[in-house]
Amino acid sequence: MSEIKQILSNYSQKFNAELVTLFALPQGHEKRVMEAMAYSIMNGGKRLRAFLVYETAKLFGVPFEKSFRTSAALEMVHAYSLIHDDLPAMDDDTLRRGKPTCHIQFDEATAIIAGDGLLTYAFEILSDTQTHPEANVRCKLIQMIANAGGAYNGMVAGQMLDLHAEKCDRQEKNEALIKHIEEMKTGRLLKFACEAGAVLGNASSDEFKALGKYARAIGMAFQIADDILDMEGDPSLVGKTLKKDIDQGKITFVTLYGVEKAKKVAQELTDTAIQELSIFGEKANTLKLLAQFIIDRNH
Ligand code: IPE
Ligand code: IPE
Ligand code: MG
Ligand code: MG
Ligand code: MG
Repeated sequence: MSEIKQILSNYSQKFNAELVTLFALPQGHEKRVMEAMAYSIMNGGKRLRAFLVYETAKLFGVPFEKSFRTSAALEMVHAYSLIHDDLPAMDDDTLRRGKPTCHIQFDEATAIIAGDGLLTYAFEILSDTQTHPEANVRCKLIQMIANAGGAYNGMVAGQMLDLHAEKCDRQEKNEALIKHIEEMKTGRLLKFACEAGAVLGNASSDEFKALGKYARAIGMAFQIADDILDMEGDPSLVGKTLKKDIDQGKITFVTLYGVEKAKKVAQELTDTAIQELSIFGEKANTLKLLAQFIIDRNH
């Protein structure tokens, strides 16, 4: 196993062991929604977003325990976005992380409210004093995640445009539109991850900006890698139904330019991301390895 895979795997184990403690089942018939929430968030996942919060905060000496809840909140928002993304009215997927999607395992209505439950729980977690003792830091994190996940240039806006792009005419399907979609539907939550680490670590404004630029580049590269995996990944490793983007008329770098050009763009973005970390010196080595892993991954 490569060094970065080992680091990520060790982190995931530690993160998952803590995460499960946040998913105790309530009494009564409402427990079904918590079961669906726990099913969707605990069923694997690379934990890249959680790890990015941890690793960027670590640049400033913040230990695992002090970044865990922010990482958990972000994985909740991510898991909710995946549950809704997979619904029949959206991408209509039956497989996620190698297992039946939430609406297949439970039912559609339960999947919708499980998504709502995860989104709401993220805010409950972030606003609690255990996340950070200072109210202004908690407020900042809450404002940042709402912005990154929301309808004003956030993930929700990206998802709306992704649906719009399925139906728009050929001329409108251009590079500017893909970049915009990919940056919003995926990039903004990854950017939140790195900026949240900077906020937890009380970074200087130059450090905050450098991490924001790193995140922007890996965010786009991450979605391009996802689009390439959809086209030519190994189905037994990816854990999702493949070749969906082309079937559903999605616009991605791959559907517009083909796999080769998409790979080239992803590598250029990765090189840019790595350069942005120069101000942190050797402390940022893991984040550099992670940038390359994001495009080399097979799932
Ligand atoms: C998949 O994200 C959805 C996108 C935003 C492209 P990941 O590939 O990080 O999914 P998990 O969390 O590892 O399952
Ligand atoms: C999903 O993009 C982005 C969000 C869930 C916000 P995709 O639709 O490409 O993600 P996958 O391929 O289903 O994981
Ligand atoms: Mg989608
Ligand atoms: Mg999808
Ligand atoms: Mg995809």
